[in-house]
Order: sequence, then structure tokens, then C-alpha cells
Amino acid sequence: MSNTPDHALVVAAKTAMENAYAPYSKYQVGAAIRAENGQIYAGCNVENAAYPEGTCAEAGAIAAMIAAGAKQIKDIVIIAVGDVEAAPCGGCRQKINEFAEPDLTIFVVSTAGDTTRYSLGEILPHSFKLEA
Ligand code: THU
Repeated sequence: MSNTPDHALVVAAKTAMENAYAPYSKYQVGAAIRAENGQIYAGCNVENAAYPEGTCAEAGAIAAMIAAGAKQIKDIVIIAVGDVEAAPCGGCRQKINEFAEPDLTIFVVSTAGDTTRYSLGEILPHSFKLEA
């Protein structure tokens, strides 16, 4: 695992986070992926008055990657405002798992300056995955 997050990914995730639509939780999250084609895809959480309809930052970044024709998450950075680090929710762990190997390093960053890294296999062991 690399020790520090890719700077360009941090910038992209932060930019997306600043555009997050989170009027209900007031918890803004951004995510940025580097795919196998070297390009960066970013997303933010988009909440809804019908609360369960809200989507996570990771889901937005993955959707942007797939829409662009890429299929593999090679690097990912997730960032949230404040000093609370946004470890991906269970659903997002499964979504990331669809397009990544267990040795993927997931960097979780807070705007307060903390960085934690996990491997996907560590936070989603014994995952359900079908080969496409
Ligand atoms: N959220 C994300 O965008 N990603 C995560 O990994 C955790 C949670 C969002 C969903 C919701 O808009 C807000 O954070 C509070 O749960």
C-alpha cells in the first residue's frame, strides 16, 4: 500500500465535496477515483428530501467512471468536511468492490488534515463478487 494519497485525487475529491448537496445531514463528502485509463472521476453526496433517495459520494464517482467507459478503480480518495473521517458505508464498500481488487488502498481524508488508509479486503472481507 502506498503511504500517502495521490495529490491530484485529493484535489478532485475536495472540489467535488465543496459541491456536495447535503442540506439534511450537513455532512459533505467527496470521492475521487483514478481508473485504469489514468483519468480521474469524482463525485459528491447528493441528498434528497426523501432521505433514502440520497446517494453517496463514492456512488457518484463510480457512476462517472462507468459512464466514461472505464471499469477499474486503481486509486480512491474519500474526503469529508471537518474532523470526522468518512469511512465508506457498507453499501459503498460493496460498490467499490465491484470494480476493484482486495488490495486497493482506500484513503480517507478529513479537511482537518487526518488521513487513514484501509485496504478494501480489510474493510470488506469475504465479499460477494461474481466474475462478469
Ligand atoms: N456519505 C457518503 O457520501 N459517503 C460515505 O462513505 C458515508 C456517508 C454521505 C451520505 C449522506 O449524504 C451523508 O454522508 C451522511 O450520512
